[in-house]
Amino acid sequence: MALPTPRHIAIIMDGNGRWAEARGLRRVKGHEAGSETVRVIAEECSRLGVEQLTLYAFSEENWRRPRLEIEFLMRLLKRFIVNERDTLMRNNLRFSAIGRLHRLPEGVRRELTRTMELTSRNTGTNLCLALSYGGRAELVDAMRELAAKVQAGKLKPEQIDEAMVSAHLYQPEMPEPDLVIRTAGEMRLSNFLLWQVSYAELFVSDALWPEFRAEHLHEALASYARRERRFGGLVDRLEPKTAG
Ligand code: IPE
Ligand code: IPE
Ligand code: MG
Repeated sequence: MALPTPRHIAIIMDGNGRWAEARGLRRVKGHEAGSETVRVIAEECSRLGVEQLTLYAFSEENWRRPRLEIEFLMRLLKRFIVNERDTLMRNNLRFSAIGRLHRLPEGVRRELTRTMELTSRNTGTNLCLALSYGGRAELVDAMRELAAKVQAGKLKPEQIDEAMVSAHLYQPEMPEPDLVIRTAGEMRLSNFLLWQVSYAELFVSDALWPEFRAEHLHEALASYARRERRFGGLVDRLEPKTAG
């Protein structure tokens, strides 16, 4: 039986720079083109009734990039979250963000908050941007909160279990990703949602993010539908009949 559409799709949007370089353009042109893809894929996920779409837009490690590229990305991000408000409302999308958001420029944080508030009553797909996000950083932040509760005498170490760790992540209510897609062919997670992806299905597309379209998403969904998820258990199958 084919698997249903994933509740949560998480995408590592990669290959903007390579897309631009292949066309003799500056890397930033690739980021610009990539932001168009965000709109296309968010609209498609909304149409498909996906509950959550999480997009890895800027990692904690991306702060190591040249200052001018970072500044361009921050300006592009701000423009995107302001200009796409109509798209979000038209498609009934709820907007959110995860990561060490305090590291983002003040103007970006202000527009993020406004867009989240504006879309907070929408009931469709939750579009979540991972910004200044690192999977390890998220776990460190969760551990600090837990340690502070232990120190304050509100929590005993033996009460900490998996559910409690999950409850201290940036967005505790998010369903775990069912499907992780990475574009541009690289076979790695690059510190994305490390805790949450433990049983996610992985799909790597060779398409570069600026050229990734609904048909590439459908290809990933078709592959996902053919998978068999076992979560460490066994799938019910008829046992072969033994003689006698
Ligand atoms: C992904 O594209 C966007 C970000 C990480 C911000 P890249 O900028 O990593 O593109 P490549 O990997 O150099 O092609
Ligand atoms: C992963 O892409 C991060 C984002 C998509 C935001 P990178 O281009 O930063 O990853 P690496 O450096 O190739 O692992
Ligand atoms: Mg890259």
